Amino acid sequence: MPMKLNLYAESNRLIYRPLQENDLEAMFELDSDPEVHRYLGNKPIVSREEAAQVIRFVQQQYRELGIGRWAIVEKETGEFVGWGGLKKVMESGFVEAPYFDLGYRLLRRFWGNGYATENAFASKQYAFNQLKSNQIFACAHQNNLASNSILKKIGMHQIGEGFFEDEPLFWYKIENEMKHA
Ligand SMILES: CC(C)(COP(=O)(O)OP(=O)(O)OC[C@H]1O[C@@H](n2cnc3c(N)ncnc32)[C@H](O)[C@@H]1OP(=O)(O)O)[C@@H](O)C(=O)NCCC(=O)NCCS
Repeated sequence: MPMKLNLYAESNRLIYRPLQENDLEAMFELDSDPEVHRYLGNKPIVSREEAAQVIRFVQQQYRELGIGRWAIVEKETGEFVGWGGLKKVMESGFVEAPYFDLGYRLLRRFWGNGYATENAFASKQYAFNQLKSNQIFACAHQNNLASNSILKKIGMHQIGEGFFEDEPLFWYKIENEMKHA
């Protein structure tokens, strides 16, 4: 049984809450946008059923692992901005699993406001303070300048290179300075 966690958090301008069924339209907008998928393998989704599957998949992770990516909501408007947060990865060919992966994906109209950076800082805090994790990992396409910049800005260090479906990645890691036993 996963430990019981409060899957809500917030930061200055954003609220983080579990993904829910009525995020479907926004999730479809997000994942059917070719620009959003530019550094994610260039395979945007084409149907709402695919978006519904993603929501169900993440909800299953909440139940089974006690954690999964959050929906990000703008405080000022209540609008869905995208998703971000932590995924518990149970198997990996690169780092020792299980581990927490930090990630984010925002609707294009919200880019350029510092929201992904704000979310990444909040995710790091949550991993270290709530999940009591001693380290977190992330990876980004080598050409994804915005994402690589965010990961470095929150203090992550490049630990290696790899490939995902023939696309070159940089791997990142950060250690919790206040290590838990
Ligand atoms: C990557 C992504 C989350 C960034 O979101 P965002 O909210 O616009 O990011 P921020 O506003 O926090 O900006 C991050 C940094 O990248 C920089 N940046 C943004 N777009 C950039 C670009 N196209 N080229 C270079 N730098 C860029 C910003 O200037 C900022 O750096 P700074 O703080 O030093 O000025 C967003 O573009 C996105 O959702 N992309 C599609 C999904 C994706 O690629 N996710 C990451 C997978 S690893």
